[in-house]
Amino acid sequence: MAIRFHEAAKEFHLYNEKISYIIKVLENGQLGHVYYGKHLTDREDFGYLIEYARRDMAPYPFEGRSDFSLEHLKQEYPTFGSGDTRYPAFELESADGSRVVDFKYKTHEIFAGKKALEGLPAVYVEDNEEADTLEIVLEDEMIQTKMILSYTIFRDRPVITRHVRFECECEAGITLLNCMSGCLDLPDKEYEMVELAGAWNRERHPHTRKLTYGVQSIYSMRGCSSHQFNPFLMLKRANADECSGEVLGFSLVYSGDFLAQAEVDNFDVTRVVMGIHPNEFRWELKKGEHFQTPEMVMVYSENGMNGMSQVYHELYRTRLARGTWRDKVRPILINNWEATYFDFNEEKILDIAEKAKEIGVELFVLDDGWFGKRNLDNCSLGDWYPNMEKLPGGITGLAKKVEEMGLKFGLWFEPEMTNKDSDLFRAHPDWLLADIRRNYCHSRNQYVLDFSKQEVVDYIYEQMRKVLTDAPVSYVKWDMNRAFSEVFSNGNGKSYQGKVRHKYILGVYSLYERLIQEFPEILFESCASGGARFDPGMLYYAPQAWTSDNTDAVDRIKIQYGTSYVYPISSIGSHVSASPNHQVFRNTSLETRANVAYFGTFGYELDITRLPEEELEQMKEQIQFMKENRALIQQGVFYRLKSPFEGNNSAWQVVSEDRSEGLVAYFRTLQPAQGKFERIYVKGLEENAKYEVKECFGSKADLGVHYGDELMYAGLNVSDCAAGIPGVAREQQGDYFSRLFYVKKIEE
Ligand code: DGJ
Repeated sequence: MAIRFHEAAKEFHLYNEKISYIIKVLENGQLGHVYYGKHLTDREDFGYLIEYARRDMAPYPFEGRSDFSLEHLKQEYPTFGSGDTRYPAFELESADGSRVVDFKYKTHEIFAGKKALEGLPAVYVEDNEEADTLEIVLEDEMIQTKMILSYTIFRDRPVITRHVRFECECEAGITLLNCMSGCLDLPDKEYEMVELAGAWNRERHPHTRKLTYGVQSIYSMRGCSSHQFNPFLMLKRANADECSGEVLGFSLVYSGDFLAQAEVDNFDVTRVVMGIHPNEFRWELKKGEHFQTPEMVMVYSENGMNGMSQVYHELYRTRLARGTWRDKVRPILINNWEATYFDFNEEKILDIAEKAKEIGVELFVLDDGWFGKRNLDNCSLGDWYPNMEKLPGGITGLAKKVEEMGLKFGLWFEPEMTNKDSDLFRAHPDWLLADIRRNYCHSRNQYVLDFSKQEVVDYIYEQMRKVLTDAPVSYVKWDMNRAFSEVFSNGNGKSYQGKVRHKYILGVYSLYERLIQEFPEILFESCASGGARFDPGMLYYAPQAWTSDNTDAVDRIKIQYGTSYVYPISSIGSHVSASPNHQVFRNTSLETRANVAYFGTFGYELDITRLPEEELEQMKEQIQFMKENRALIQQGVFYRLKSPFEGNNSAWQVVSEDRSEGLVAYFRTLQPAQGKFERIYVKGLEENAKYEVKECFGSKADLGVHYGDELMYAGLNVSDCAAGIPGVAREQQGDYFSRLFYVKKIEE
């Protein structure tokens, strides 16, 4: 790994064995983008790759020279104007209203390691040998403002992280109107853009479109990363599939409003920008102040989409997630939400916990409804003290009883919200993130608190701290159940308003940081009305996230499949819930529900006090299975094998890093009559090693011993014959059927 500066050519070459990234200081002092992709042998000068102007009517910055136009040059961090009329990476206004800027290269620094980002989540290194960083300082002398572009390249990963910092030394100040975390100009447009799109209950479904002229973008202006889109974009070559071909991943380590955009100009140049959404963003910087963008993480894969995902998984699991729980397998939990909703008392909770303990569950999580006088969703958010009618011993009493049973205790909060019927709102109506002089929207009867205000964050912190100090709480589920609507920070002046949306998310991060510093043993799970804030920013604080409120196994295959494009299996909150399912009313077998939920953190969310003994026995077996296999599942290498978006059947697998064992899951939505023969092509095994294959549940059939190459290239036969699947009871087959295979390397 190295970052070289070639003095004569004024070129930076960042490279490791897998990738190269090349930047050149252009003749006008701005930075040109030269190359990003598969590793190139280092040389003094790649300048020949720069494509200058075409002879047309483009504006040219140099008098009398029509061979240099920013309209055509690929750039690192372009502005609007100065000839370039594509969408810019940043926009800045001087005190006199001018938006013309001219940032020129001044100096740079190359150092081992990677700096933390002030107040923001970011990928980190544990050892300076893991990565090198380049910081390039550009300056606009007229407005005495510096722009520092930061690039980190990892030694063993095809990863480059980027962010930008503006520093103002101008007496009159400046205003940032837009500042993306990064921009990438690519020399052609022959890509498909893949994003994760959805809605509540169907989050992160991959969607693919061919890039074409103009702008194609995804975004959130909802205050959270959202159900609708995820701060992630992939550009893939048309021939790239799950395991081969060129794929570029772009992921933003941020949990608020974002924009991720690909623009194709009329010369087929593709420009990708990604960062905080400029909508309602207006950040004034006075002399001596600075602004730091969030981080963008770029992954290059020549091994298709699985190759890209595996890099994100490993990076985010081990160098974004932090703390006590980062490297630990996750506790098997039971959550009372779908068991009781708001309708519970201590007795009911203890009954559930007791049964859960009997079958091997490790953690009981008390969800919404334990505080204030909350029995419905119309009151008490913000009043984080226990409802003594429901819980006479309070949270402390209940948590102690649960602990005495031998279970850990977890608790739900929704720190960023309030209801009008709450002590908090009655005391502080001006703490709402809304123009309270006007009508403003509720959503689920609740209102967003103005987390841009320090006193609001402090108040919530004190309340949470008290609960978490008084009671033995081992896990916190941090929910966020509505999007922003009329954003206004009451009592703060005009110049503050353009900062509110970003300051809000900084407030959320700061509260998380204080809590994880104070309670380092607590496992945090983020949540936002299901999966509306399943993003890299959250993973820095909470190593797992509730994936979706949709717990139906069949829908979850799609949701978890899409989520796995970026996010590690250890972060995917997944529970077995009741059948018929509460969201889509589908009946599925307990086996299939668990077969999907194993590929995540795993837990239960149903009233187990009402289940027949046979089901409890089956669950006991499932829990035992998960305990034995969770390290493999949560820390192994994950492969998507067959997409649920393309047909009736789907499959995925994990394999241990040393390739000695794996689990292959096969899901069939509907039972076909006279179905086709079907094989699953396993991945990641050693070609010449022998593996024994066993069906994990049902018949537990022994499927023989095979060489790795047989399983990978000839495939694993999963089709049924006239009599159904040998060894699987007929009544277990039919619709929503699934099979799980354990593959284990055996010694010669
Ligand atoms: C939305 C979450 O996604 C659910 O799991 C549950 O916690 C409810 N909120 C509680 O209000």
